[in-house]
Amino acid sequence: MKKLIAANWKMNLKRNEAEDLVSKIEGILAQQPELQVKSDLLICPSYVYLPMLAPLCKKAGIALGAQDCSMYEQGAYTGEVSSSMLKELGCSYVVLGHSERRQYHKEEDSLVCKKAMTAHKHGLITIICVGESQEERESGRHKEIVKTQLLNSISKDTQAQNTVIAYEPVWAIGTGKTASSDDVREMHDFIRSTLKENNIEGADDMRLLYGGSMKPSNAEVLLALDNVNGGLIGGAALNAQDFTGIAKAG
Ligand code: PGA
Repeated sequence: MKKLIAANWKMNLKRNEAEDLVSKIEGILAQQPELQVKSDLLICPSYVYLPMLAPLCKKAGIALGAQDCSMYEQGAYTGEVSSSMLKELGCSYVVLGHSERRQYHKEEDSLVCKKAMTAHKHGLITIICVGESQEERESGRHKEIVKTQLLNSISKDTQAQNTVIAYEPVWAIGTGKTASSDDVREMHDFIRSTLKENNIEGADDMRLLYGGSMKPSNAEVLLALDNVNGGLIGGAALNAQDFTGIAKAG
């Protein structure tokens, strides 16, 4: 399966820095075209940079995505951004249920599920994030927690063509602590078998990403695991060498 190397820029970068970063990545890709043979690359910047980055990403062959979207289609929902707006701006992906949204904006599985339904309706591929906290892992409940999040967050129409799952243990996000390859293997195998047991269409072909302090130095081992089909990268994706270095490792 072709890997997906996805950058989650979060609320980072000034306007000129965002443009610069895409140009640098484009420059590296021009020198190393094999990177895009092995992997699809995706950048998810802040909403406000989408129109500016869309032509640059298109030129570089990098897909564009958003970090969230509304569960509503349109109307009186102040501050919200709809899936159709994202689609019109050139997005093909949207990240949903990131742990930072679950934690700071109290987003629950049911909301993630409704957002996914709307996003799919407008032709976006959703990246549904799941992952346990440190405490949940220490208490040995990590699989049970991830299974519940996964099954409650994916929408009824989920299939390999419209959904990517990102396993991001909360304790590994932005902390520099990466899950061990045994932990990642165990969880990714478990997610794959959970999808199969629940008869999710295309369960075998659905991309499963790992996220949490992924960087060039640990990417090779993680991306070599059977059920790891790419990465969702935060901090390291803010540097062109590191981001493309991860793609190279895949
Ligand atoms: P990180 O973030 O790579 O900085 O740990 C990953 C994410 O939050 O998607």
